[in-house]
Amino acid sequence: MPEPAQLRRWRADTPGTAHRNHLNNAGAALMPTTVLDAIAEHLELEATTGGYEAADAKSTEIEHGYEHLAELVGARARNMAVVANATAGFVQAVSSFDFAPGDVIVTTRCDYTSNQIQYLALHERLGVEVVHAEDLPEGGVDPDSVRHAVASSGPRCKLVAVSWIPTNSGLVQDVESVGQVCEDLGVPYLVDACQAVGQIPIDVAKLRCDYLSATARKFLRGPRGIGFMFASDRALARGDHPLFVDMRGARWISTGRYEVDPTARRYEGWELPYALVLGQSAAAEYALGVGIDVAHERAWTLAARLRTGLAAIPRVRVLDRGARQCAIVTTAIDGMDARTLVTHLAGKGINTVPSLREYGQYDFAAKNVESAIRYSPHYYNTEAEVDAAIAETAYFLGN
Ligand SMILES: Cc1ncc(COP(=O)(O)O)c(C=O)c1O
Repeated sequence: MPEPAQLRRWRADTPGTAHRNHLNNAGAALMPTTVLDAIAEHLELEATTGGYEAADAKSTEIEHGYEHLAELVGARARNMAVVANATAGFVQAVSSFDFAPGDVIVTTRCDYTSNQIQYLALHERLGVEVVHAEDLPEGGVDPDSVRHAVASSGPRCKLVAVSWIPTNSGLVQDVESVGQVCEDLGVPYLVDACQAVGQIPIDVAKLRCDYLSATARKFLRGPRGIGFMFASDRALARGDHPLFVDMRGARWISTGRYEVDPTARRYEGWELPYALVLGQSAAAEYALGVGIDVAHERAWTLAARLRTGLAAIPRVRVLDRGARQCAIVTTAIDGMDARTLVTHLAGKGINTVPSLREYGQYDFAAKNVESAIRYSPHYYNTEAEVDAAIAETAYFLGN
């Protein structure tokens, strides 16, 4: 339990808490004031001194940002790249591999929606085979099934990609065990940590991943429209680089040659929104100040309280599976489109979002769900906010 003074400070740092009961941190969390200030100050500087000149003036702070991001995942600054969002980082990593027809990507049934669409596009356009490893009985990918899928594909398996936490449930996949499999079998490994960053301590050495992609706006509490990725020394040494590398990621050294940047910045684009870059850096610094372990413990405790309270309401079915469940709580309502409840809660100042069948075709089909409501508390929420969401849900459903 945090000291009441600590919770009061987090909330005082977060102007949005005065206006909304924000249980949509898996969508976009409320930003702390330091993040807002970093963005606003830089926009002001750009407006008054010029965009390029402002970036020059803030070059030290911009560099520090890479160190903060590196600390978040247990890496070094040279392994970090700033990208537009988690999907952009994921795609940059995937584009490092020159897939040929018959090559295999092994992934999970709970991988993120956009990733699944991209696997399908790779199948349709390049003839890549996409293998979805089996789930464990309790939910989440079975690392032994990944081992079997990779081993039986032999050298055709070019990549294993896993979403740590999917968008549409509280599941936490066992990314460390999958990392062990990938290392044993010598296959590159990409982790989508979009929903993990800010709510789970991350150590890329334990994940043994080649790449990791993340976004600023979710449990990290940064701004929308910016994200980051990690590329391992192993990937950099292999010469991996994105298919559409630009003049930030590489130098055009003679008419017929380019040379990629030695660091992970080979994955960046030349043009960056520096106000957001600084906002993301401030969010990382703030999260490190709070302590990811502290944020983790409290957010997961609030989510467990929410799950228990919601499960006790007639017609409500909690959908979260897996051995460990995170700060995302999803429920289906018997006989009701979840969007109706989301709209009602919004009218009461409680922020949640709906999750639809198309966000998780495998998962929601197995659960026989067309729509769900997603509540996602964070450490700065209060027990009273969680209880209010439970009470309002119960009231709306006629209890
Ligand atoms: C698991 C997961 N991966 C990736 C993304 C995509 O993130 P972004 O919108 O920053 O590209 C999301 C967004 O909800 C997500 O939940």
